[in-house]
Amino acid sequence: MKVVLGVTGGIAAYKAAELLRLLQDRGLEIQVVMTRHACEFVRPLTFVALSGRKVITGMFGEAGSEANGESAIEHIAVAQSLNALVIAPATANVLAKLAHGIADDFLTTLCLATKAPVIVAPAMNVNMWQNAATQENLAALRGRGVKVVEPEEGYLACGMTGAGRLASVEAIARAVCETLGLRDDLKGETVLVTAGPTEEPLDAVRYLSNRSSGKMGYALAEAARRRGARVVLVSGPTHLDVPAGVEAKRVRTAQEMGAAVSSHLGEASIVLMAAAVADFQPAQFRSQKIKKRKGAPSLKLKATRDILGEITRQRRAHQLVVGFAAETENVIENAAQKLKAKRLAFIVANDVTQEGAGFEADTNIVTLLFPDGRQKPLEKMTKLEVANRILDEVVELRKSGGQG
Ligand code: PMT
Repeated sequence: MKVVLGVTGGIAAYKAAELLRLLQDRGLEIQVVMTRHACEFVRPLTFVALSGRKVITGMFGEAGSEANGESAIEHIAVAQSLNALVIAPATANVLAKLAHGIADDFLTTLCLATKAPVIVAPAMNVNMWQNAATQENLAALRGRGVKVVEPEEGYLACGMTGAGRLASVEAIARAVCETLGLRDDLKGETVLVTAGPTEEPLDAVRYLSNRSSGKMGYALAEAARRRGARVVLVSGPTHLDVPAGVEAKRVRTAQEMGAAVSSHLGEASIVLMAAAVADFQPAQFRSQKIKKRKGAPSLKLKATRDILGEITRQRRAHQLVVGFAAETENVIENAAQKLKAKRLAFIVANDVTQEGAGFEADTNIVTLLFPDGRQKPLEKMTKLEVANRILDEVVELRKSGGQG
């Protein structure tokens, strides 16, 4: 989801950098727009470095503008693509412009051009805050659906004490997340997710692996993070970017994945095992490339470590463990056996033979199986949606005191 963070010219402008971080942490894509006066307080470069993208500072690339690629109609493109616009800090001047529909720079023009929800976090001197003009402007904005994150009382930069200090960045971030419908029902939880395949080396150049892309596990990590959890992602080799705010540990083999899971298990309150861990590895590793000779060499395999089995044995009472089962036949029966053997909270049965399900696809089709025999088949949906449905069940189990 894309959010524009508008920064206007007040002493609290530096706090917008921290707000940017908090919003990124919730997996949001942030475009910063600064007014000319804001640039007097904080250099746009600060936000370029933090957001990793250009900062828009003017309508026409005028002198002093740090934007590149700005054009007279860019505000329309930005206005149409965003999901919310938050202005923090919002000065009395900008609030007055918004209240009167004045559009004399990029930010105020964007406010007129967008249909996305607008949130303002005012910050100013106490007398300016209490002035009837400011209060009437705010009343007009509220009347049009603008969300106002009230300033706090306290010592102000101007030396006076009273209302006008920018609300905490946490409160502003919360208002943005609420507006976007982002839940924080996993706040306080530490979610350990495994994703992707493992690679089991055979010789200096060859290995055994499988078709897992990591998309399902990464979607779980992203969804859990967006819902407020701390997320540790233990990932086999993939080409995917780590979702914002997620702590990632890259591993290669089942042995390494097991070690990483084991070292983070103590911190985790929820474990989601989406990785396609190799069940077998070559019995012997050759440090030199095996030479082509007459007749193919035979390959001897041995079992890898059973990570889920280890978790089952080590699991503490408060830890909720969810497993996956990738099956090609007798899907429900086989998954139900794994659910029972591993004493899981529930298992995600994945018939990987179906079109649009399983390995590599952006979508998945799964059935959730519970220890009491309940089955929840889910229709075909994106892996992010599947991830959220799995997390809905986790949250329900938490509420009812249930666990694996
Ligand atoms: O990565 P994608 O391309 O998005 O594909 C998604 C997926 C198909 C990989 C995913 O949806 C899925 O089904 N993951 C589980 C794959 C798997 O290895 O299933 P399994 O039935 O072999 O294993 C059962 C459970 O034991 C799994 O939770 C697995 O992580 C775990 N396991 C397996 C073997 C092993 N040695 N140790 C384990 O912990």
